[in-house]
Amino acid sequence: MNITYFGHSCFGVEVNGKHILFDPFISPNELAANIDVSTVKADYILISHGHEDHIADVVSIAKRTNAKVVCNFEISVWLNKQGVSTTHPMNIGGKWKFDFGDVKCVAAAHSSSLPDGTFGGNPMGFIIESSEGNFYYAGDTALTYDMKLIGDYRRIDFAFLPIGDNFTMGVDNAIIASEFIRCDKIIGMHFDTFGYIKIDKELAVSKFDNAGNELILFNIGETKTF
Ligand code: NI
Ligand code: MN
Repeated sequence: MNITYFGHSCFGVEVNGKHILFDPFISPNELAANIDVSTVKADYILISHGHEDHIADVVSIAKRTNAKVVCNFEISVWLNKQGVSTTHPMNIGGKWKFDFGDVKCVAAAHSSSLPDGTFGGNPMGFIIESSEGNFYYAGDTALTYDMKLIGDYRRIDFAFLPIGDNFTMGVDNAIIASEFIRCDKIIGMHFDTFGYIKIDKELAVSKFDNAGNELILFNIGETKTF
């Protein structure tokens, strides 16, 4: 799987030839000024929750690419009102078979209002299971005991976890989360974009290393193969 980082919590993951884009927040992100949002590929867009820093570019990318937008029911209804008709509403606990693999929605402990103040339903994380491998995209969340369920019942090859603290869990709790989900390969997200979530990246990597886990941090625009 090729994974490209577009800044903040936005990643493009190529699974079985399909481009899955997570939480696009590119054009308002000063750190992602090197990314031309009009060239970002998407066959699917997965949205963890309604906050601006996860949804800012969804409407424009969905309209340009005709991507299927997978999100909770409330965000789906809101996107339909913005002229995006290609939505697939889901909710926590539900799974659906897409052509690239299965998507299961799991709980996230956070909030989810939409940019205009509309109620954005409940925040979610996603587990992707495919013939090319399995991964967990946590979205914005605190450390929760529910994450143990993922580790107990699924095999996760790698996971995207927030590490910026203040709005989500930070590095120390993300290390515990990686133990709960039994995954030693963690891709960090939701750090450095704003003052509240600036972190010491070297310290974060060494803390994960000391715990026996690998923390992988991308440069914005960088692609790595998993
Ligand atoms: Ni959020
Ligand atoms: Mn956020």
